[in-house]
Amino acid sequence: MTDCKKLHEAFGDYFSIGAAVNSKTIHTQCDLLSHHFNSITAENEMKFERLHPREHHYTFEHADRLISFAKEHEMEVRGHTLVWHNQTSKWVFEREDGNVVDRQTLLKRMQSHIETVLKRYKGQIYAWDVVNEVVSDKDEEMLRPSKWLDIVGEDFISKAFEYAHSADPNALLFYNDYNEFVPKKREKIYSMVKSLKENGTPIHGIGLQAHWNLEYPTLDLIRQGLERYASLGLQLHITELDVSVFDHDDRRTDLVEPTEALMEMQANRYEMFFNIFKEYSDVITSVTFWGAADDYTWLNDFPVRGRRNWPFPFDSNHQPKKSYWKLLDVA
Ligand code: XIL
Repeated sequence: MTDCKKLHEAFGDYFSIGAAVNSKTIHTQCDLLSHHFNSITAENEMKFERLHPREHHYTFEHADRLISFAKEHEMEVRGHTLVWHNQTSKWVFEREDGNVVDRQTLLKRMQSHIETVLKRYKGQIYAWDVVNEVVSDKDEEMLRPSKWLDIVGEDFISKAFEYAHSADPNALLFYNDYNEFVPKKREKIYSMVKSLKENGTPIHGIGLQAHWNLEYPTLDLIRQGLERYASLGLQLHITELDVSVFDHDDRRTDLVEPTEALMEMQANRYEMFFNIFKEYSDVITSVTFWGAADDYTWLNDFPVRGRRNWPFPFDSNHQPKKSYWKLLDVA
């Protein structure tokens, strides 16, 4: 594993190659991570509830540890994430008496969270997913219902970017989302980001999560999407790439090992994805996997309980899979 060509060197002329890591995997996958990747994202350790579990009380130990891991191995760090409907402490939206806070209070809390976190990691985190997953998956709905939206109104989005920019003017600020190549959702993301930009909001890029599988998205959808997003004149980061071996509606839980055939199909998918990423490498400046090797993935048990998955180019023993060799051919 550590005697084969480094992925990040293979793609060095095109984009950085990242992995989502956590407090465990920086130990259990240390050699693999430091060999093949030159960027990391904290899988959970920089989310609101982890950094800021109570008002005026921050817990930075785990996040700090990931930052030193990155320094030690000369990796860049993407920050994930500041404003999201998930993994955000309940206190943020509540007054002491348990009632809902007012708009001004919530904006103040958002601002002080963003300021504290960005200032702490100034110069160490070069890009932030400022706002995560606010566009709705439902056709008739633009924004996802959330406490942020309910209490503040639509401008919680632009405010988050403004607070982030004034806390760290050098950080690249991203809007990040999934189902990014589903045409209806893509158009909503596109028009939201377009109007943010037109209104002078400091936004520098779009994070395309890329939680994909063996059939979605098609090459055509990717191409149409990249064309559309690229036309906004912002950077694109692939932020959470994994290739599930199950299609969206597949509820099977009986597969205990991946078959050769599945791994072959996955390798062909990776080949197709990286060919097109390369083609768009003037706008795609970073590609991050949501993990690194098949011994750990958030897709085990999600969205189907009791189901295992094998979404990465390295297997459970950190050995290169067919996908890895295809990636080298592409590079
Ligand atoms: C996931 C983590 O991988 C899990 O460990 C956690 O339980 C839930 O969140 N979109 C995102 C990521 O932006 O933060 C999510 O990460 C995966 C989907």
